[in-house]
Amino acid sequence: MTSERKATLIIEGREPVEFPILTPVHGNDCIDIRTLGAKTGLFTYDSGFLSTASCSSTITFIDGDKGELLYRGYPIEQLAEKCEFLDVAYLLRNGELPDAEQKKTFVNIIKTHTMIHEQMARFYQGFRRDAHPMAVMVGVVGALSAFYHEAEDFSDATQRSINFNRIVAKLPTIVAMAYKYSMGEPFMYPRNDLPYTANFMHMMFGTPCEKYEPNPVLVHALDTIFTLHADHEQNASTSTVRLAGSSGANPYACISAGIGCLWGPAHGGANEACLKMLEEIGDVSRVPEYIKRAKDKNDPFKLMGFGHRVYKNFDPRAKLMRKICSNVLQELGLENDRLFKLALELERIALEDEYFVEKKLYPNVDFYSGIVQKAMGIPTSMFTCIFALARTVGWMAQWEEMITDSEQKIGRPRQLYVGAPRRDVPPIDQR
Ligand code: CMC
Repeated sequence: MTSERKATLIIEGREPVEFPILTPVHGNDCIDIRTLGAKTGLFTYDSGFLSTASCSSTITFIDGDKGELLYRGYPIEQLAEKCEFLDVAYLLRNGELPDAEQKKTFVNIIKTHTMIHEQMARFYQGFRRDAHPMAVMVGVVGALSAFYHEAEDFSDATQRSINFNRIVAKLPTIVAMAYKYSMGEPFMYPRNDLPYTANFMHMMFGTPCEKYEPNPVLVHALDTIFTLHADHEQNASTSTVRLAGSSGANPYACISAGIGCLWGPAHGGANEACLKMLEEIGDVSRVPEYIKRAKDKNDPFKLMGFGHRVYKNFDPRAKLMRKICSNVLQELGLENDRLFKLALELERIALEDEYFVEKKLYPNVDFYSGIVQKAMGIPTSMFTCIFALARTVGWMAQWEEMITDSEQKIGRPRQLYVGAPRRDVPPIDQR
């Protein structure tokens, strides 16, 4: 990062003030305004962080115009094709892909931390049977902080590494248990003879009554879905994890905060919302009616799975997901799946429509992920949990980067106060 150029701020009636311009490896130059308040007494106003870099990072980079996503410099397409999710997890955390020996050790560590404390299994009984699995996830992942006190020694790099391995290993178990609890089926213990994603499918779909053999095509598809969702720069949930962690909070509590943020329909909850929308549209003949509604300023309806704050030409994850979708449907003999056909038609019409073209609204990763997951037998309410499972890797990598950043300070945004001016409390009979 270099800072040879300067930006000059001219405020009427005052001396000009200079600020360094930081030039990153990729992406937009940034004006470093950290001294603005001290030098001028002014703040910037940037609701929704439309033009604000909240940190410097070495983990993920998105070029929204090119439709490019890089993890530690590697294009997502290459990682999706050549690597397994655990390679990607190792890469995001450590900065480099593992060699054969490192991978063997890492996979072994993850495999031997998959069980959760038996007491935690009883924790699930406290939730209503019909609780949304994301509500269960927020609670159970947050509760990990009660089980692992030693996690609070953040100055210890070994301890932080154990935290990372532990949560990456246990998330599939926690997600599968949330599913089993909602179904009223017995929890399945992890099988350490299976790879990460196959073991997750075993815990989701296996029962003690019969042996479950995961389908390799579906395992590969799900593993790739994990890779596509592993990290995504400073999105809302990642920023939530960083902000929560900036106070020195327990990392499991921070991940729980991230899960809460991810749940929303404008973020990770879009895959669930998208599938519900496709079900509601129901038939190709009704697509124009819904396109019309999406364009109507007085109608709050939005086309779920369309649009992105950063991608303005296409979402590279959506392209890969479309291919996975087609492979999975073919494997399961569902090529003529009604919802997939409906999705294709919706995509076709929206991409030709002036409103969507002009606003650069393209299908995002969530547009197809719901169809794939539904075809695999994963219920709609579990979609965002799968997203959370994968994104935990990115959240933990970002948390590590934040906690070890020498410039790190507690996150404390300022505000533009527009409420009542100072006033005195009147006596009760004058209110
Ligand atoms: N359908 C119809 N109109 C839309 C849509 C949509 N899906 N998305 C944006 N617009 C319109 C919006 O009404 C606004 O119009 P106007 O300029 O007339 O006010 C304009 O496009 C700009 O939208 P915005 O909401 O200001 O853009 P944003 O960058 O703040 O929001 C977004 C991005 C993803 C929240 C939004 O596009 C959206 O709500 N999409 C649907 C939900 C969705 O699919 N979310 C998943 C995001 S990808 C997964 C992830 O990374 O979490």
